[in-house]
Amino acid sequence: MFRRLPPQFRAVLRGRKELFTTLGVIVVMLFLYSQRVPLSTAEHSVAQYIPFSINGSYSKPPQLINPSRTPPRSSTPFQPGTVDAPDRQYTKALVIARTKTEEISWLNDTLDGSNISVSEGWEVYTYTTDDLSAPHHTPLNKGREAMAYLTYIIDHYNPPSFPPVQQSNPESSLPEVILFLHAHRQSWHDNLFSLTTPSTITHLHLPRVIRLGYMNLRCSWDPGCPDHIHPHPAEFDPYKPEESVFASSWSQLFPPSHPVPAVLSQPCCAQFAVSRERILARPLAVYVGIRDWLLTTELVDALSGRVLEYIWQVLWTGRVVVCPGERGCYCDGYGICFGGGFGEWVGKRRELGVVRGRRDEVLGGEVEKWGEGVVMEVLGRVGSGDVGEVGDDEPGLGKDEGGYANRDPSSQPSLVKIQEILSLNQEVEDLEDWLERELAAARERGKDPAERAKEVEGPLLDIPALSGE
Ligand SMILES: *[C@@H]1O[C@H](CO)[C@@H](O)[C@H](O)[C@H]1NC(C)=O
Ligand SMILES: *[C@@H]1O[C@H](CO)[C@@H](O)[C@H](O)[C@H]1NC(C)=O
Ligand SMILES: *[C@@H]1O[C@H](CO)[C@@H](O)[C@H](O)[C@H]1NC(C)=O
Repeated sequence: MFRRLPPQFRAVLRGRKELFTTLGVIVVMLFLYSQRVPLSTAEHSVAQYIPFSINGSYSKPPQLINPSRTPPRSSTPFQPGTVDAPDRQYTKALVIARTKTEEISWLNDTLDGSNISVSEGWEVYTYTTDDLSAPHHTPLNKGREAMAYLTYIIDHYNPPSFPPVQQSNPESSLPEVILFLHAHRQSWHDNLFSLTTPSTITHLHLPRVIRLGYMNLRCSWDPGCPDHIHPHPAEFDPYKPEESVFASSWSQLFPPSHPVPAVLSQPCCAQFAVSRERILARPLAVYVGIRDWLLTTELVDALSGRVLEYIWQVLWTGRVVVCPGERGCYCDGYGICFGGGFGEWVGKRRELGVVRGRRDEVLGGEVEKWGEGVVMEVLGRVGSGDVGEVGDDEPGLGKDEGGYANRDPSSQPSLVKIQEILSLNQEVEDLEDWLERELAAARERGKDPAERAKEVEGPLLDIPALSGE
């Protein structure tokens, strides 16, 4: 323990000193996230770049749900897709929304000692939102990732197309599975278990996407589930400014036969996997209509993008609340299966945060009082069992006579505090070890299709179907 203590505590202390810097960085990153796809510059007028007439298509609501195709209310609007043999290779594409300065070299990452890159076997479509000369680009930099996603769909939707729109590549077709992604390698809204964008892609279990038709890539419910957007909010919530424009946006997107729902929910952040079947279940005109809305809306991107963030699940499941159980999502979706222990793991992870915080608080307090050098030295000695005897006169702990154990606490860190720090630190290490061990076991369990099948799905929390469907 002695040997591994000091560097670790030094790291903690450094962390404490840098707390404010770190908070600053987080604030800046959140800000950057919110500004991820910047507003268009003034000279990019809508009329100049839209490759088709927006006149007419927007003079009436874009008919998101085509009434002639809408099944009667009593029937289930979408059926689960059919999954083939486990070794079936599905055709698949990554659709990435990016600005020209965003770096996407992570597509070439290799993971877990493999020499195969993340994007190997995927068609990759990078839609640049602010560069009309990019091979794939959006007509306008407006509406954030939604503009890129919709443009990809419109460009690749299979004929017959209705109404005729200019497709940049009328020959191409959609693959069986499409992942819609942001350009970052890692972000605050990534899943638990270090599922960054590259590892999300490599771990994703495609049969789940085929079966469900639509899978939000984020399993964690917070924010977004289970009860998130209230289009008629009792009061303005600064964390959900889109609530205040949701009802009016909904009425522009949907025909009057689909009244504004009381609540909409799905995990946040607009990254998801969709089957070709589900995309084709809506007519092309729907996607064109939504993009027209995005091109012409007077809402700022921060709002229009966020409105659509809670429309995708409606589009591809016909449900306003789509919150799959987290445990099943991680297991069936990513092969991380805890058997019955998911709740325990999450609980211990929370506990780790609390204990760590307590350790750093006590340690920080002592360092403030006595200085880093003294505290480290005493921690090292007491940690290695050298508490000193009465009358012991070891050098290095102070000028007074006698061993550490019977020094005056007003001139040295108190033994009680030092032992508290050591015991909290031990708790932290034990929790870290436990979490790591259980996670490794969960990954191992997740390799077995039989184990995955056991946790396939908590029931989707999807009771409020879109009224009228
Ligand atoms: C829109 O349509 C109206 C009537 O159909 C027409 O008079 C007008 O010129 C059109 N505007 C544009 C920008 O195409
Ligand atoms: C991946 O690597 C290849 C070969 O070095 C390079 O041509 C390509 O641009 C890289 N892709 C990305 C997205 O950086
Ligand atoms: C990856 O490694 C294997 C075994 O070492 C090798 O046979 C294979 O050619 C490598 N693939 C690539 C793309 O480098």
